[in-house]
Amino acid sequence: MPYSKVITLEQFIVDQQSLYKDAQGSLSKIFRSLELAAKVVNRDVRKAGLVDILGNHGATNVQGEEQKKLDVIANDVFIAALSRCGEVCMIISEENDEEYYVDGCENEKYIVAMDPLDGSSNIDVNASIGTIFSIYTRKNLNEKPKLEDCLQKGKNQVASGYFIYGSSTMLVYTTGTGVNGFTLDDSIQEFCLSHPNITTPDDGKIYSVNEGNLADFPDGVQEYVQYCKEKDKTTSRPYSARYIGSLIADFHRNLLKGGIFMYPSTEKAPSGKLRLMYEANPMAFIIEQAGGVASTGDGRVMDVKPEKLHQRVPLYIGSKNMVTRVVAMLNNEEVAELANS
Ligand code: AHG
Ligand code: MN
Ligand code: MN
Repeated sequence: MPYSKVITLEQFIVDQQSLYKDAQGSLSKIFRSLELAAKVVNRDVRKAGLVDILGNHGATNVQGEEQKKLDVIANDVFIAALSRCGEVCMIISEENDEEYYVDGCENEKYIVAMDPLDGSSNIDVNASIGTIFSIYTRKNLNEKPKLEDCLQKGKNQVASGYFIYGSSTMLVYTTGTGVNGFTLDDSIQEFCLSHPNITTPDDGKIYSVNEGNLADFPDGVQEYVQYCKEKDKTTSRPYSARYIGSLIADFHRNLLKGGIFMYPSTEKAPSGKLRLMYEANPMAFIIEQAGGVASTGDGRVMDVKPEKLHQRVPLYIGSKNMVTRVVAMLNNEEVAELANS
């Protein structure tokens, strides 16, 4: 494509901002910081096998320097970039036990939640990993920022998105007016609009779940997995099983192709594994904006009122008819005749 036709992330945000009446450029500053941090992390991910960043956090390398795991590096890089942009008062991260207050920004209204490195078990084996983020505004600007400001329902998100460090590096995000995807052009180090207005099919042919845990899943989920494997020409079953073990990578594939990702509750982990604030909510905002569904099995993900920062929720997310079916099976409800689910 000739470069005159390329829309960079920066241009795209500028064009979109003119649509908002109260646009003050704050969000675009936050996005610029996220973009910069992602480029730094992307660079480190690309040379992960070459330098001493594969070791365990806390270990020392031959030079006696402390080695840092990539997820700690990513956490530091994103926090530093977001702290510098001057628009974010608080950051909550999967890697930090507590909320982080940005020095000198206590009057700012934005809060960022993030999973700085999702899929960390895949770093050492060269499979796709990524960064997930979510942006909220603080409700009461007359008071100092506090923990309660972070514990908002997902439906209050102003924006959410993810960077995927895969065979190419991409950003996919929403601000509540659809979902757009940008691919990093390495040669010019710009994210360029490559996937405008992403919508996800109502039906898919892929199911993604850690089937090793099958025996521990609720009965309805076990039945649904069995359903996915049955032969049925009219619904194109059996579906394909695809599971990378990085939510971002599994989600991204299913978003584009149609499918369902599930991380159910188990006896050992009654709330599942994935975190509401850093994983479930940001992905839920994206999937809903793309026409899909995100459920805890008990209701809409974005309606859950968080009680603590690192809260976990079971997650069923993806194509509308597939999620509707598994949720119905989970709750022992009649499954309405769905087109091809
Ligand atoms: P993280 O690397 O941020 O801890 O997240 C890992 C998560 C998620 O990315 C993935 O979907 C899930 O863990 C995989 O879990 P299992 O290995 O239990 O299947
Ligand atoms: Mn994660
Ligand atoms: Mn993580």
